[in-house]
Amino acid sequence: MYGQISTLAFVGIEARPVEVQVRITPGKAAFVIVGLPDKAVAESSERVRNALHAVGLGLPYKHVTVNLAPADLPKEGSQFDLPILLAMMVAMEAVAPDAVAGYAAIGELALDGSIRAVPGALPAAIGANAMGKGLICPAACGSEAAWAGEDVDILAAPHLLSLVNHFKGLQTLARPKAALDSTPSQRPDLADVKGQESARRALEVAAAGGHNLLMIGPPGAGKSMLAARLPSILPPLTPEEMLDVSMVHSLAGELMGGKLATERPFRAPHHSASMAALVGGGTRPRPGEVSLAHLGVLFLDELPEFQPGVLDALRQPLETGETVIARANHRIQYPSRIQLVAAMNPCKCGGGGPGVTCRRGERCAAEYQARISGPLLDRIDLQIEVPAVSAADLILPSPTEGSAEVRARVSRAREVQRARFLKLGAKGMRTNAECAGRMLEDVAQPDADGAALLRQAADALQLSARGFHRTLRVARTLADLDGEEGIGRMHVAEALSYRGETLRQRSAA
Ligand SMILES: Nc1ncnc2c1ncn2[C@@H]1O[C@H](COP(=O)(O)OP(=O)(O)OP(=O)(O)O)[C@@H](O)[C@H]1O
Ligand SMILES: [Mg+2]
Repeated sequence: MYGQISTLAFVGIEARPVEVQVRITPGKAAFVIVGLPDKAVAESSERVRNALHAVGLGLPYKHVTVNLAPADLPKEGSQFDLPILLAMMVAMEAVAPDAVAGYAAIGELALDGSIRAVPGALPAAIGANAMGKGLICPAACGSEAAWAGEDVDILAAPHLLSLVNHFKGLQTLARPKAALDSTPSQRPDLADVKGQESARRALEVAAAGGHNLLMIGPPGAGKSMLAARLPSILPPLTPEEMLDVSMVHSLAGELMGGKLATERPFRAPHHSASMAALVGGGTRPRPGEVSLAHLGVLFLDELPEFQPGVLDALRQPLETGETVIARANHRIQYPSRIQLVAAMNPCKCGGGGPGVTCRRGERCAAEYQARISGPLLDRIDLQIEVPAVSAADLILPSPTEGSAEVRARVSRAREVQRARFLKLGAKGMRTNAECAGRMLEDVAQPDADGAALLRQAADALQLSARGFHRTLRVARTLADLDGEEGIGRMHVAEALSYRGETLRQRSAA
């Protein structure tokens, strides 16, 4: 007796086809799963046995072999329960082979036969569609899977019984609806921030060009407050981006109720985060914070408190927009195009800051700041100082301009960039922050005055090649915010002011 059904295994966000084959042969009663199953898959035999029992079927007292092909692809997680059980039911002639032939299946089984949610329904549905099949998945994952396309056949069943009844024509499972998360945004507004004009401006520039931003300042200056308001001035995700972001969140099991979010992700991991938590991986590979922040913001508060090794692991995703995790016999890739925002105090004691010397002297600041490596700093286009907010500013009424106005300017500047990169044929490039090398020099050529200032500054400040390019990139964004094609002296001058002078001098000390 033989039965088979398709399912999928995840390698990064890619869902690879897997065939579940079940053969029941006379002989000693046993239940053997082969084909690189991990612990969760190996344990599925007990869940399958009990779920079968729940629908009134008993496991035959024979030798049952389950093969997960291809044999060399590791199979991880509990999502294989349902396909194993369905292939078994085909082998036991409880379900017709034709009924399941057009589907791939994923789902975890409970002992009472209900089908429990599993991560990754969205990439699985897209993978199944690519195989020319529909998807059988848990009811809780239905609205997520439905995003794969209107023509993809999705069977989202709450219980084995309803699935079997559907196959027998006794009940019809309605196609789940693709749902959007339409709860009104709870995100804090920029209107809460008093004073701090230059920090607000830097935040707007960072949002407009997608630049990474580092804020240095004494405690209570409002750094965390400002960072938390960055998502509120970023343009919403396009439908295509929404799907990209949701693929990663689906794999991490973080899509709330299967609804896709229209807002950009904002992730703020604690500084005690491990390498696996931040960049992904672990015994069962999972996207890390840097991937969960894909197309959104990764906020690292108290930057020097993170483990230096963990911080340096961010260099690759910041450069390539992708995280690669090497496993024993394969590589896993997760998309991670993030905007990094970091905040820190000038020194460990929190004191210091412009014009104030820490009581432990300059060394305190130098040691603290040296915890951040040069190559990581090089990837942060905007480095600004946020001075303590004065009482005079706090007494003032809230500023009239809130996130909505700033967001409109940011969206306009982003549109200009997108159109420019499209014209240049740079597919997939969205913001100035991603622009480098020859293309940067082409699009960010300052006028004669600007070029003269840049040359002067490069000599006087001993700008490195990277520093030079950072200035050009930021100047391009400043001109885009002004709606100007040419980069003038003013743009270059402002770009030079975001260079993080203090940090560099201190770490050199
Ligand atoms: N510019 C400001 N306008 C209004 N309130 C402010 C401002 N700056 C700070 N505050 C108030 O001070 C509190 C502390 O600010 P926040 O946590 O952002 O400081 P921080 O710079 O991150 O400090 P730390 O370095 O200790 O993390 C805020 O919750 C807010 O109530
Ligand atoms: Mg803070």
